[in-house]
Amino acid sequence: MKKLFGFIGSLMVVGLLLAGCSTSKADNSVKKIQDKKTLIVGTSADYAPFEFPIVKNGHKEIVGYDILLSKKIADSLGVKLKIVNTEFPSLISELQDNKVDLILAGMVSTPQRKKAVAFSKSYYTVKNQLLVNRKDANKYHTTADLKGKSVGAQQSTTQESIVKSQIKGSQPVIESNLTSLATELGQGKLDGLVVENEIADNYVTTYPKKYAISNVTLNTPKNFRYINVATRKSDKKLLKKVNSEITKLQKSGELTKMFKQAQTIQAKYK
Ligand code: ARG
Repeated sequence: MKKLFGFIGSLMVVGLLLAGCSTSKADNSVKKIQDKKTLIVGTSADYAPFEFPIVKNGHKEIVGYDILLSKKIADSLGVKLKIVNTEFPSLISELQDNKVDLILAGMVSTPQRKKAVAFSKSYYTVKNQLLVNRKDANKYHTTADLKGKSVGAQQSTTQESIVKSQIKGSQPVIESNLTSLATELGQGKLDGLVVENEIADNYVTTYPKKYAISNVTLNTPKNFRYINVATRKSDKKLLKKVNSEITKLQKSGELTKMFKQAQTIQAKYK
């Protein structure tokens, strides 16, 4: 019996030592942000209503749902918000290289990305659609109808995998900027563009004469549905803060209001 207690005792000592180690290898992710008084958020402002540029009083500004949420997170930390706009494919390395503190870019938590960064709880759910030129509104019904057609998708996104895995006979056109792809679709240089439903809806409501959502059904696997905030894996305290802010905004209904607010801003400044 004595021996057993001794054994348990030494296990506890080892446990305490380990716990000590993990706190001494301090996670000062929150403190660092508070010391510099600024939260730096990386985004890719080609994704209305999540993030998009507007010109207000002669100044270019990046606004949207992700920016409203970023502001709430910054407020909860008691710091200012700085937005860094980069192309989507480089966001994860910007985070890993400490150029930004968080990514809010309509980014879904794929298993592949989870190897590189940590994700918060989800703050939006999406599915994928095929946006087409208005003149082709009723032209395509299944993915097979897109054989030989040029179908665009933003580079390094879940849309790129969907084009390549689900629209097999098509010719994928992969580019880093989504706004340019949408422009090409509007000019008839592309036959289709894979985008998430809110993005597609936004193009159709903003430019009803230019775009339409096709009848083609795409499958959005579970892994591609949930939009989250990305943090560095080591920044556990910051992640916890982000999660509690999202929970708070979800419970109060504010998150839903913020999405509508972003859509209103988009309609006003289009
Ligand atoms: N949700 C998709 C993904 O995570 C696309 C996100 C693109 N975001 C952007 N800001 N352009 O792969």
